[in-house]
Amino acid sequence: MYLKMHLPKCLCMSVLLMIADGFVVQSPSGPLVVPLGGSVVLPCSVDTLLPVEGLEVEWKRDSGTLVHLFQDGESRPESQHQDYYDRAHFFTEEIQHGNFSLLLNNVRAEDKGEYRCKVYSDQDSDENVVEIKYVERLIVSGSNHSISPYEGEDVTLSCSVDSHIPPEEIEEVSWKKIDKDGEILVLLFHYNEIITESTPDQYKDRAEFFADEIPKANFSLRLKSVRNADKGVYMCLVFAGDFSANTTMEVKISLSTLHIVVLLLCGLAFGSASLLGCLVWRKFNSEDFHAITYCLDSLI
Ligand SMILES: *[C@@H]1O[C@H](CO)[C@@H](O)[C@H](O)[C@H]1NC(C)=O
Ligand SMILES: *[C@@H]1O[C@H](CO)[C@@H](O)[C@H](O)[C@H]1NC(C)=O
Ligand SMILES: *[C@@H]1O[C@H](CO)[C@@H](O)[C@H](O)[C@H]1NC(C)=O
Repeated sequence: MYLKMHLPKCLCMSVLLMIADGFVVQSPSGPLVVPLGGSVVLPCSVDTLLPVEGLEVEWKRDSGTLVHLFQDGESRPESQHQDYYDRAHFFTEEIQHGNFSLLLNNVRAEDKGEYRCKVYSDQDSDENVVEIKYVERLIVSGSNHSISPYEGEDVTLSCSVDSHIPPEEIEEVSWKKIDKDGEILVLLFHYNEIITESTPDQYKDRAEFFADEIPKANFSLRLKSVRNADKGVYMCLVFAGDFSANTTMEVKISLSTLHIVVLLLCGLAFGSASLLGCLVWRKFNSEDFHAITYCLDSLI
């Protein structure tokens, strides 16, 4: 009787313990684009908290070069390749949270490639691969999605330069609207000056940079009181030295409540007119209810 009652519980417990010993290294979200000379966090984390005892974390290049090793409770710079000696930083304080990410500073062109994060505990091991796909001199980032403001709203179109070029070396930033008829220069920044002479009338006093943000290499565009004619694709194009990069964004204009009401009213007016027309055509007299139902049915 005693055994019968407790055996299944024991089994359950040991199965649970076995599951708890295993872990999975989370996959990174995708390849990384890193500015030359900048820093990047190579992500690596596990879904379960692991005891530091017996924990080993190894970061290796695809070539086999050891980028960083954490073993016996500490980082082991002596076994690390000298290229990474003062550039790879392990977040020791994050280990307790199951986060074994690695910060790589002063990124060089030859850092491009795959990095394998291999995690060993007493019971199990798993790994993931992170790829630095591009090391770029100039990276321009915006927002990856389109925006749909209502007519009359103000919008911000993002454009920021992520590079280790000092902002004063950014020669030119232009915001263009691209449509089927060609390009319209909306706003221009040229050698430290905001040039508004080239802004066409339809954008005058409505399009501007955030002057305070320019020293931070943030060239986002403020477009005030959007109109239906503003819809289209906008490009932020940056030139610095021999390099150029861009980001694009689509602006769609949403119908405002007023528009929807007007459309509904139009629909309603059209419906009533059709009903009336139909009734007249059926030579409606007040007793002929069938005519009404017939006409309503045919409308719906
Ligand atoms: C791991 O730690 C680094 C540095 O603090 C942080 O940037 C990163 O977002 C953390 N990752 C996770 C999954 O918490
Ligand atoms: C750029 O400046 C705008 C306006 O202040 C702000 O909304 C946006 O978040 C900034 N972008 C970056 C990347 O800091
Ligand atoms: C914008 O960037 C894309 C890819 O980054 C490039 O193919 C394209 O030529 C650029 N456009 C301009 C006008 O520079």
